[in-house]
Amino acid sequence: MRWLKILLWIGALFFYIEFVLHIGGLPILEHDRIFLYTHDRYIALFSLTYGTLLMLISRDIQKYRTLFLLTMCGILLSIINGVAISLQGGYASLFPVSNLDKNLKVLGMSFLVWYITIWIVWLQNNRMSSNKMNGAKKNIEQNVKLFDKWAASYDFSLFQWWMRRFYRPVLDWISGNQRILDVSCGTGNFLQEMQQRFTQAGLYGCDISEKMIEQARKKLSTEVKLSTGNVHDLKYKSDYFDCVTSTEAFHHYYDQEKALREMCRVTKRNGRVIVSDINFFFKPVHWLFEHLEPGCVKINSCDEMKALFEKAGLRVVHQKRSWVFAIITVGMKS
Ligand SMILES: C[S@@+](CC[C@H](N)C(=O)[O-])C[C@H]1O[C@@H](n2cnc3c(N)ncnc32)[C@H](O)[C@@H]1O
Repeated sequence: MRWLKILLWIGALFFYIEFVLHIGGLPILEHDRIFLYTHDRYIALFSLTYGTLLMLISRDIQKYRTLFLLTMCGILLSIINGVAISLQGGYASLFPVSNLDKNLKVLGMSFLVWYITIWIVWLQNNRMSSNKMNGAKKNIEQNVKLFDKWAASYDFSLFQWWMRRFYRPVLDWISGNQRILDVSCGTGNFLQEMQQRFTQAGLYGCDISEKMIEQARKKLSTEVKLSTGNVHDLKYKSDYFDCVTSTEAFHHYYDQEKALREMCRVTKRNGRVIVSDINFFFKPVHWLFEHLEPGCVKINSCDEMKALFEKAGLRVVHQKRSWVFAIITVGMKS
């Protein structure tokens, strides 16, 4: 995306220079000799429009995809017009100019290179994002399959002893009357502990696995609002929760930056996003997990987690290794 953005800015700069040149009839490339105010005013307006369109598209290339395609079609028409002028003998047959056609040819060729390059980069970006989408789909399928299958036996007591090491330290960062969302809540054990401890809290839970949510429903009262949902696309209003938590699940998210941005979006200003996730000290152990555990994407170090929080717009206010194999990171939305 970065290269596409830079190319769009270069295009916009070209059109803005064209605008200045045509509105002022400046003596560059013998332009002043073919300057015709009534005609050049149109070219100036056209250049200003295209420059502005390219700048607008560069702000959000995904959002303005259709506008990009239309703008590129429009630019293609002006390239065809330039070629037609050149084939009809250029400006030398109409005006007293010597080098203008030669110079315009160089300019036109550079512009054509820009035009072709921007298409190549755009197509390449599209291919990459569709690969990413396929990766995302595969990851969701793996997670749903694994946790749907596991749901009925997930509350096995020895395993839950281990899971408690991840969510109990999070309780220190929660207070009584908050609205709290536990994403990837699994069978709802953490929500159950919060419900017992904070009777005034508004509790919400979501998880990608329908079967995990079914198990959670069995043990939690109807006051706890549960739903199936993907952390990358949360179905809650922005700035809604005082606190959003994720315990022992973050390494399963296919786009961890996007997941954190979503968690941050639904959190109120000055609210907290808390992630408690596994870390086994050694990268080779992480590599094994990432390659052997279905649905596991990436296990992060403290620094990596901090960087992800900051990218998502969260100020890290606390980070600590809790128990031996868990890292808890607390971020505040400013
Ligand atoms: C190891 S379990 C942890 C469950 C719970 N937080 C706990 O501490 O017991 C990981 C959970 O993450 C959920 N999960 C995986 N990918 C997800 C996604 N993209 N969005 C929401 N939940 C997801 C799984 O369905 C699973 O319930």
